[in-house]
Order: sequence, then C-alpha cells, then structure tokens
Amino acid sequence: MIQLNSLAELVPVSNQLLALASDVPVWCFYGEMGAGKTTLIKAICDQLGVIDSMSSPSFSVVNEYETKSRETLYHFDFFRIKSNQEALDIGVDDYFHSDNYCFIEWPDKIQSLLPDHHVEISIKLVDDNKREINLMEHGKK
Ligand SMILES: Nc1ncnc2c1ncn2[C@@H]1O[C@H](COP(=O)(O)OP(=O)(O)O)[C@@H](O)[C@H]1O
Ligand SMILES: [Mg+2]
Repeated sequence: MIQLNSLAELVPVSNQLLALASDVPVWCFYGEMGAGKTTLIKAICDQLGVIDSMSSPSFSVVNEYETKSRETLYHFDFFRIKSNQEALDIGVDDYFHSDNYCFIEWPDKIQSLLPDHHVEISIKLVDDNKREINLMEHGKK
C-alpha cells in the first residue's frame, strides 16, 4: 500500500508506481468520483514526458497524448459508456493491444473487455488530502 498524503507527493508516488509497473501497458484506475484518478493519471503522464496539456476535462471517452520522445499514450474515461458494444465501436481492442500505455478510468464499466494482463490501481479517499493506493498486476505473461 502506498500513502499519498498531499498533492506534493504526486511526483514521487507516480515514480514509485512506474518503477513497479512501467512494463505493463494497460493500467486500470479504480476509485469513487473525486478519489483522484484523473489527477494521478495526469501526474504519471507528466513523469512519462507528455507534452500536451492534459487540461481538457471535457474529453469524451479517449484522449491521446504524445510524449517528448514521440510515444503515444491513451487516457480513457468510461464513466458514461453504456455498453461493451459502444466501447468496441470506439476501437478499444486496438488501443488496448497497441502496446502503448492505456490509462483507464472506470474500467469496471467495460471489465470483460480488459486484456488479461493489466495493472489494477485502487485509490481510496482517506480524507481531503490523503489517499491510499494499491497496485496489483493481473495476468502476468
Ligand atoms: N492526492 C490528492 N490530494 C489532494 N487532493 C487531491 C488528490 N488527488 C486529487 N485531488 C483533488 O480531488 C479532486 C478530484 O480529483 P480527480 O482526479 O478529478 O478525481 P477522479 O478522477 O477520481 O474523479 C480534484 O479537485 C483534485 O485536485
Ligand atoms: Mg476523473
């Protein structure tokens, strides 16, 4: 379990998570609304050298970012998705098997479409400033 005691700890915590799982492309973020999923993903993307500002809160389901070293990564928010078919129509299979990082909010909405090999990150809101983070790797190759 990793403690995230303030926004200031986002950088070291992101690096800790990357040290544990940077070889796994698909990362699933679980946690209630306001737990800090978007915030943590943004911090991880910063550490990976994403150039685009990730300031578009209005992105629909998938947002694509590019890093300084010209790698592409994908950020998904499935909160509003209504069916697996809707996700398949967006092309999630191709994204999830692209070998690029895929950071996923509300993965439980499309649980059966997730690749076996993925990282589960659970964020628990302890209080306004404190979060508990758990990381588990599933379906290791
Ligand atoms: N580790 C943290 N410490 C303090 N505040 C945080 C932390 N993570 C997120 N927040 C704040 O909580 C709010 C919701 O965060 P957000 O990342 O949008 O949550 P989610 O995507 O899980 O709904 C934001 O105002 C954000 O600044
Ligand atoms: Mg969010």
